[in-house]
Amino acid sequence: MVMWVFGYGSLIWKAGFNYDDRLVGFIKGYRRVFYQGSTDHRGTPEYPGRTVTLEPAPREVCWGVAYKIAGKEDKETALTYLEVREKQYDKKTYVDFFTDSMALAPAVSGVMVYIASPDRKLNPNYLGPALLEEIARQIIHAEGPSGPNKDYLFQLEKALLQFGCEDKHVIELANEVRRILAEGEEGD
Ligand code: SIN
Repeated sequence: MVMWVFGYGSLIWKAGFNYDDRLVGFIKGYRRVFYQGSTDHRGTPEYPGRTVTLEPAPREVCWGVAYKIAGKEDKETALTYLEVREKQYDKKTYVDFFTDSMALAPAVSGVMVYIASPDRKLNPNYLGPALLEEIARQIIHAEGPSGPNKDYLFQLEKALLQFGCEDKHVIELANEVRRILAEGEEGD
């Protein structure tokens, strides 16, 4: 059986594993939010960064990419790799993935996706909502082993725009970070 993985954050621009196909599309009933604290990639335990997770939103869709992994060895390697990379995401669920807004039937069913839940017992790094400016300032200051948190935000904005997705939350946050940086209020 082939394995499919949905990426809505850094997995969009960096898979990190072998795959056989990559489709651009969306899943229904979720929105992308910068509510997950990152102490292992884009921040540190002393100064956590923020990465995206998915929040249930019945009438919304979340655009991203789905990777198809077919070979037995590639599937095992990808899963082992993802379990480490996405270890701060406490939930793994399976969703329908669509490539066509008009289609009623999904292009692929049973696509695996990692989610960081708001349950602080299962997910102690969860940060949740905050004022846009507060989130922006946190992103400006955070940096972890995978690089500056602001690069994650800008790469995500760029990757989404490359396939025509204008995600309001991501664009507003990126604009707020650029505004603060342009005012020179925050040193690097
Ligand atoms: C994802 O990309 O699908 C999960 C979140 C992340 O690793 O940025």
